[in-house]
Amino acid sequence: MTSPVNDASESNTLVTNTLVDKLAREELVDMVPYQSARRLFASGDNDQANSRTWLNANEAPGQGQYQLSSENINRYPDFQPQALLNAYSNYCNLPVDNILATRGADEGIELIIRSFCRAYQDSVLICPPTYGMYAISAENHGAGIISVPLVNTTEAKYQLDLEGLEQQVGKAKVVFLCSPGNPTGNTLPSAQIKAAIDIFKDSAMVVVDEAYYEYTNKELGAEQVNNKLISQCDNVIILRTLSKAFALAGLRCGFTLSSKEVITLLSKVIAPYPIAAPVAEIASKALTNDLGVMQARVNSAHSLREQLSEWLKQQKWCSEVFNSDANFVLFRCNNIDEKNKVFNFLVEHNILIRDQSKQLQLDNCLRISIGSEDEISQLKQLLDTL
Ligand SMILES: Cc1ncc(COP(=O)(O)O)c(C=O)c1O
Repeated sequence: MTSPVNDASESNTLVTNTLVDKLAREELVDMVPYQSARRLFASGDNDQANSRTWLNANEAPGQGQYQLSSENINRYPDFQPQALLNAYSNYCNLPVDNILATRGADEGIELIIRSFCRAYQDSVLICPPTYGMYAISAENHGAGIISVPLVNTTEAKYQLDLEGLEQQVGKAKVVFLCSPGNPTGNTLPSAQIKAAIDIFKDSAMVVVDEAYYEYTNKELGAEQVNNKLISQCDNVIILRTLSKAFALAGLRCGFTLSSKEVITLLSKVIAPYPIAAPVAEIASKALTNDLGVMQARVNSAHSLREQLSEWLKQQKWCSEVFNSDANFVLFRCNNIDEKNKVFNFLVEHNILIRDQSKQLQLDNCLRISIGSEDEISQLKQLLDTL
């Protein structure tokens, strides 16, 4: 997408010397912002947006029904609304002192970088292919980015390169792990996550992004394993969100789980009223009344995901379907022409999926979010006519 400033700068050199250009941090002037699913297809036209089938942001289908009270709306909300913290505490079995509510997990990512990395001095470590916001937030803040790509072993694909990580000890302040990974979909074995935490125990915070936690087939007691990690290791941070399995992406509510010390530190950096009162009200209701609905949504996503994966495996343009523990399926097309053909054909028919082919190791890969049964069957019917 070309910005108006770029258009103008091509035709009128005076525009490039605006006061903003002169004063802005130089590296931001040409920086490309995160191309979120919404931003890529922004039209500003509500009817057009509503006529599209959005299978590109790993949102859950279906709208919740929430009644809001406007009582106290004239007042600022609590810094951390108590009812919300209590509700998440009950849900995740951690004391409230270990929880920070944020504007989505994305705000957690940003706060962690701003709290631990000095601009232009410190770095974060990412393991691509991975979620794009770790690098974007680091870049925004002026933190360096070290990459230790995921590796394929004889047993499993897209695993941590523990030897590669060891070589970076002392060079990064924050290490981002994503499990289940977006866009790869696989859960990292807990032994690998523990090994990474041990490797960086004296030198870096290890962030385990569990945005898709609810969709995983949890090993027995996974909840306890996480809680044990937080109580036993000083350098662990877990990210969660209501945007996925709770079907509340529009609410912007996530949670950072860590030691009391880390939560106290992040609380110094976060905005004074991060959680709007209506957000706290809806999120608290979802976490207390709607756990059964959430579980049913997850179960339905599991069966749709398996059906879609099986169907993809039979398509002649598809060469690989990735195992997924989340609410999306990543697949590889035979070549770039077929990848473009599938993607563009869907867009022409108002079905939006995500092109992941620019990511490391993901040539010709596309990702489909598990929408409703209707949406997935529309997509399959359409591709049958390709
Ligand atoms: C791995 C991962 N982490 C974090 C997020 C951001 O979640 P939120 O909507 O809570 O900001 C996403 C969103 O797609 C994601 O895929």
